[in-house]
Amino acid sequence: MDGTRVVKLERILVVDDQAANVVLLRALLDDEGYVNVVSTTDPREVGPILDGLCPDLVLLDLHMPHRDGVALVEDIRARLSPDEYMPVVILSSDESPEARRRALAAGATDFLTKPINEEELSLRIRSWLETRFLHLALQDHNELLESRVLERTVQLEQAKAELLERLALAAEYRDDVTGRHIHRVSRTSALIAATLGWDAADVDLIERAAALHDVGKIGIPDKILLKPTKLTPGEFELMKRHTTIGGRILAGSSAPSLRLAEEIALCHHERWDGHGYDGLKGAEIPLSGRIVAIADVFDALVHDRPYKRAWGRERALEEVSGQRGLQFDPEVVDAFLHVQAHAATHDVAETIRLPA
Ligand SMILES: [Fe+2]
Repeated sequence: MDGTRVVKLERILVVDDQAANVVLLRALLDDEGYVNVVSTTDPREVGPILDGLCPDLVLLDLHMPHRDGVALVEDIRARLSPDEYMPVVILSSDESPEARRRALAAGATDFLTKPINEEELSLRIRSWLETRFLHLALQDHNELLESRVLERTVQLEQAKAELLERLALAAEYRDDVTGRHIHRVSRTSALIAATLGWDAADVDLIERAAALHDVGKIGIPDKILLKPTKLTPGEFELMKRHTTIGGRILAGSSAPSLRLAEEIALCHHERWDGHGYDGLKGAEIPLSGRIVAIADVFDALVHDRPYKRAWGRERALEEVSGQRGLQFDPEVVDAFLHVQAHAATHDVAETIRLPA
């Protein structure tokens, strides 16, 4: 021995109603270098002690007045999370199998009989503490991994949302270089959905998905898309293909926003009365499509298009109202008018800003 004392900082709680046993255990722990040892001869003090001490190991006597070791094991386990490994060991002179069974069933880590073999106890204490700290290290590692996975998931979600936005802008850029139309349609669709009682997650979903309603315009020739006069019937048939082109571009994804975007791309030109692009009627048309149809038409009415000048807001609102039950779902028209009534003093749709 070179006389150097190794100090061990693990926190150990000793509970035994016999003061002599406590002295013995403290001496043993002291010899081993454990300096953070708390002890009591009164089991009723264990609760208050645990309020201020988070032990790494608890050594308990079994037979004690007021509260025995088994009850204390249960008390201590109740304070810990189920996946926390904190050794609680019973030291007892009761050698009966029943005593051992009760202690282990209550959650004791081990059961040693007195008189204690000091060398064996020292080695076991080291082993229990090593196991505890391996568990703690593993928990820390798992928490770190979980936080990294969460961080990456958030990054992926942001990247996905940004890609969707850019894809929508690419489609829109050809006939609206500001890209504001898709943002207004998205926002109005979200406000209608919220008015209809959709939950926040679904409102967020339709806001992102609605931006892609015309993504299929990528496949429509400029001479049709930008034509300043009325389309011929043949040109109109070609123009109508932007819904199926959009549907094909967005098809096959497992992402909820893209699946909803596909649905909207395919059916935003359906009409409630069945006279739309594909002849779907009433509730056959997905609600998302019925919502975006109104947001899209209203926005087109109140803004300039290559083939027409912008209408005034009141005239456009009258037009939408007039199509209640014809072109548009009556309930969605009502929700839209409600949104517009609340936007009248502060025009929400017009205040949508493009990201910097
Ligand atoms: Fe469209």
